[in-house]
Amino acid sequence: MKQKKYDLKTTILSNQKVAEDHYMLHCNCPEIAHSAEPGQFIHVLFDAGGGLLLRRPFTIYTIEGQQISMLYQVIGEGTSILSKMKPGTAIHVLGPLGNTFTVCDDLDLAIVVGGGAGIASLMLLITELKTRQIETSVLVGAMNESRLLSQTDIQDLGITPQIATDDGSVGYQGLVTDLLSGLLSETSKHRITVFTCGPYGMLKAVANICHKFDTVCQVAMENRMGCALGVCLGCVCKVRIETDSEEFEYQRVCTEGPVFSAPNIIWDI
Ligand SMILES: Cc1cc2nc3c(=O)[nH]c(=O)nc-3n(C[C@H](O)[C@H](O)[C@H](O)COP(=O)(O)OP(=O)(O)OC[C@H]3O[C@@H](n4cnc5c(N)ncnc54)[C@H](O)[C@@H]3O)c2cc1C
Ligand code: FES
Repeated sequence: MKQKKYDLKTTILSNQKVAEDHYMLHCNCPEIAHSAEPGQFIHVLFDAGGGLLLRRPFTIYTIEGQQISMLYQVIGEGTSILSKMKPGTAIHVLGPLGNTFTVCDDLDLAIVVGGGAGIASLMLLITELKTRQIETSVLVGAMNESRLLSQTDIQDLGITPQIATDDGSVGYQGLVTDLLSGLLSETSKHRITVFTCGPYGMLKAVANICHKFDTVCQVAMENRMGCALGVCLGCVCKVRIETDSEEFEYQRVCTEGPVFSAPNIIWDI
C-alpha cells in the first residue's frame, strides 16, 4: 500500500550545535512521527520567500511522541542558513519519503557502519534493532574527535560504539572500514546484515568488503536531490537489473531508494 506523505508547516523547537559543523534540529510533525520508519527522510523548506528555491533532504534521526529530529552537517548555503535559524522559525516539512531498511527477524548480528554525518541516517534503525533485541554492533567513523557524532545517543541505547578517527584523536586511528573488516574476520555469527550510510567512497568500500565476506549489505544513498518526489530524475543511480548482471537501469534514490541492496549498485567512481 502506498504510504501517505504529509507537507506540514511547523516551527523549529530547538536547533543546537552538537559537534563542529553539525547541528540537531527538533520540530513537531505528528503525522510524520507516527508513520515514518528507519531509513526514511524528510524534504525541508526553510527559507520560504528567501533565495533558496529548493528543499533539502535529511533523514529522520529520532522520533519522540509527536516530535522528530534531524542531525545535519553544514555543507553549503542551505545548511549554513538553517544552522542560524532560531526556535520559533517556521519551516515546511514534507515526508516521510523513500523506502526503509529491511530487518529480518532471524538475524544473528546487525552491523551498522556510519561515516561522518551518515550516522544520522542510521539512528532510527539502531533504535529499532535495539527494540527488536537484535544483537547490534555500531561502527562510527569521523575525521576527528570534534566532529564525532552520536556517541552518547548510541550509548544511551545500551550499545558501545566502536570509533575510528582519521587522526586517532579518539578510538582507532584509521578508517571505519578497517573496523568492519576486523569484525567480519573475527565473528562466528552467520546471519549478518551490514547497514551503512556515509560518503560515497566509504559506501563503495563497505560494499566491497561485504562482497568479500559474502555478507548481506544495505546502503542508504545520499545523491543530490531536486524534487524528492520521483519527478525530476535528478537523483538517479545505476542499479543492476539482476544480481551479478552488468545490465542496469537508473533508479531514483528518492523513490526506489534511498536504501538499496549493495551488490545491486553500480559504483561509478
Ligand atoms: C535521502 C537523503 C538523506 C540525507 N540525510 C542527511 C542527514 O540526515 N544529515 C545530513 O547532514 N545530510 C543529509 N543529507 C545530505 C544533505 O541533504 C545535504 O548535505 C544538503 O542538502 C546540502 O545542502 P546545502 O544547501 O547546504 O549545500 P549546497 O551544496 O549548497 O546544496 C545545493 C543543492 O545540492 C543539494 N545537495 C548538496 N549536497 C547534497 C547531498 N550530499 N545530498 C543530497 N543533496 C545534496 C542540495 O539539496 C541543494 O539542492 C541527505 C541527503 C539525502 C539525499
Ligand atoms: S529528486 Fe527528483 S526524482 Fe528524485
